[in-house]
Amino acid sequence: MATALIILGAGMGTRMNSDLPKVLHPIAGAPMLVHAMKAGAAVTPEKTVVVAGHGAQMVTAAAQSWDSDVQVVIQSEQLGTGHAVGQAADALAGFEGDAIVLYGDTPFIRPETLEAMIAARASHDIVVLGFEAADPGRYGRLVMQAEQLDRIVEFKDATDEERAIRLCNSGVIAADCKTLFDLIAKVGNDNASGEYYLTDIIGIARAAGLLATVVQCDEAETLGVNSRAELAGAEALFQSRARQEALEDGVTLTAPDTVYFAHDTVLGRDSVIEPHVVFGPGATVESGATIRAFSHLEGCHVSRGAVVGPYARLRPGAELAEDTKVGNFVEIKNATVAAGAKVNHLTYIGDASIGEKANIGAGTVTCNYDGFFKHKTNIGAGAFIGSSTMLVAPVSVGNGAMTGSGSVITEDVPDGALGLGRTRQVTKSGFATKLFDMLRAKKARQQKGH
Ligand code: UD1
Ligand code: CA
Repeated sequence: MATALIILGAGMGTRMNSDLPKVLHPIAGAPMLVHAMKAGAAVTPEKTVVVAGHGAQMVTAAAQSWDSDVQVVIQSEQLGTGHAVGQAADALAGFEGDAIVLYGDTPFIRPETLEAMIAARASHDIVVLGFEAADPGRYGRLVMQAEQLDRIVEFKDATDEERAIRLCNSGVIAADCKTLFDLIAKVGNDNASGEYYLTDIIGIARAAGLLATVVQCDEAETLGVNSRAELAGAEALFQSRARQEALEDGVTLTAPDTVYFAHDTVLGRDSVIEPHVVFGPGATVESGATIRAFSHLEGCHVSRGAVVGPYARLRPGAELAEDTKVGNFVEIKNATVAAGAKVNHLTYIGDASIGEKANIGAGTVTCNYDGFFKHKTNIGAGAFIGSSTMLVAPVSVGNGAMTGSGSVITEDVPDGALGLGRTRQVTKSGFATKLFDMLRAKKARQQKGH
């Protein structure tokens, strides 16, 4: 059956104390909203509608940069979760299939959970995701009647007896799309908050003879973020899961607690990640590659047998082929390094291509930026770049070519040629001894004077 996602993200998130809309605060390098969208992707939705309000422009940009097909609808006044879902009605008019409501600030719903909800839909009109709360606090309570969910009561409106219920509402709901909007249309706001509660649809559905039930998940899965402290807690939870998964996938993490992952980090089996490595978004490390301590990688691809670091930085567009070596204090950006090439020390390589088995000497810089434009450097296979070469792009060094140490290379160096761009050395015999004698005498005169 076709599925549509409705993701709520209009709330202000007052407790974040932030100019950034709550759902755009990142976990593992991606906005919470994107985590919710990724979770929802498990049901391969045909349509996704994000309900935005506070910071709607920013929310729209973030949602559409992740998935350009996402529709964003605006809820200009936040009149409650039921009202929020109602804003998606036009966008989903005529949609035949199920709708699943997710919250943009609840990033960790697992695919299996959504699949279980879809499965439960076979025998129930509405399926709500619930959990046993250690401390039910202010969550909505799920009032069961045998196997049926009878209604949901918000904490503010609950009796003492209802408040004693520990089965709580996560907010995730699945129902036939048309049924959902028909029910929402009947929701009023006569309650303690004066809001249109999405949760009221259960009581309304039951009164109309529809069937509702609950699928349960772990409390950690429905963790919602309302403050910076909870955001930090969510980050920590994400990291500990990512470390665990990496270990289970056959990755060696020498000190797991010191390695930080992005939401999309991909590490191959038998890759080795040494302590204090940080992954930004978009990094892939293939099987058998080693990332040595204190390296920072994002938007890059590291192939089999490559060794990166210690203290290396790979930025977006860094593409390392098999058996390459990138050593300490080397930064690589938007550059391909072909198989077996070495860039071992104190070097910046940006907007460049480096041929197979080329050797880049210590302190080399590709001078790629003129203040307005970026330019490319091409280095051929087997080339040898002398230490401290400045490659003023656009420039090419041919296959098997060389540059002399300390050269400023402004013109192409053909295959097999040596490029030298530095002043010739002058040697004056005995000059150092004379100079030292002179300075020594001067110092002695000064000390006498005092
Ligand atoms: C809601 C549920 C409660 C549940 C809890 C789980 C209702 C009435 N209550 O309560 O049963 O236990 O979530 O966390 O549904 N939002 C909008 N527009 C609005 C209001 C909210 O987009 O007008 C969005 C918020 O941005 C947020 C989500 O909906 O992502 C939940 O809203 P929130 O106000 O936090 O609901 P709770 O009171 O926590
Ligand atoms: Ca909440």
